[in-house]
Amino acid sequence: MKINLIAAMTYDGVIGTGDRLPWTRQRSDMRRFAALTRDCPVLVGHKTYESLRSYAKDRNNPLPGRPKVVYSTKIVDVTLDTIKVQGTPEQIIDRLRFHFPDRTLWVIGGGKVYDTFMPFCDRLYLTKVQLPTISSSSDPTVVRFPFSPYPKRRVINGFAYEVIEDEIHEPDEDNEFRYHYITYEKVIQNG
Ligand SMILES: NC(=O)c1ccc[n+]([C@@H]2O[C@H](COP(=O)([O-])OP(=O)(O)OC[C@H]3O[C@@H](n4cnc5c(N)ncnc54)[C@H](OP(=O)(O)O)[C@@H]3O)[C@@H](O)[C@H]2O)c1
Repeated sequence: MKINLIAAMTYDGVIGTGDRLPWTRQRSDMRRFAALTRDCPVLVGHKTYESLRSYAKDRNNPLPGRPKVVYSTKIVDVTLDTIKVQGTPEQIIDRLRFHFPDRTLWVIGGGKVYDTFMPFCDRLYLTKVQLPTISSSSDPTVVRFPFSPYPKRRVINGFAYEVIEDEIHEPDEDNEFRYHYITYEKVIQNG
């Protein structure tokens, strides 16, 4: 099982405010998310899962076509094609490798899930959206990406990565702000 992480953030690392994304119109990134994760299992935090349900066309089938694995310590009102997981990150990943041996698992957030499962990820698919700084670090509704993945090749959270995709796009009718796709692949170190 391959494991990839996908996240979109402002240039100063904000991934959410309350249960929402920090922007309203970045349609290309939504389409890219849909295309990359199509038919793949997704690992999602309980908060993000509830947020996805609240905005889904069908509340009982958010992210259709993708088995949803919800990280939670509580009772989760699970929807179609959904399981709840808890335990250590290693236990959860072992269980998912058993369930989905030939699939790619996507770690889709939010902040707590990125923080917990990033060490297991082979690739990080990041989008940086060029929004003006939106709020101070003291705002409790602001959720940040837990790592700082900026320079071309570097160590992130103790792991070495190299950049395999680096693309900047200008705003257009589908996208309110300039955005930057930057994808990192974990470097397997010999010895
Ligand atoms: N920009 C992006 O790409 C993107 C993507 C996804 C989400 N987001 C944003 O991220 C924000 C939400 O992130 P978040 O960090 O607040 O929440 P989250 O990661 O979505 O979910 C956190 C949940 O994880 C569960 N959890 C915590 N520790 C656990 C453990 N040891 N074992 C099992 N479950 C555990 C808890 O669920 P229980 O309370 O049920 O135990 C907790 O509420 C929102 O603003 C959302 O819009 C942004």
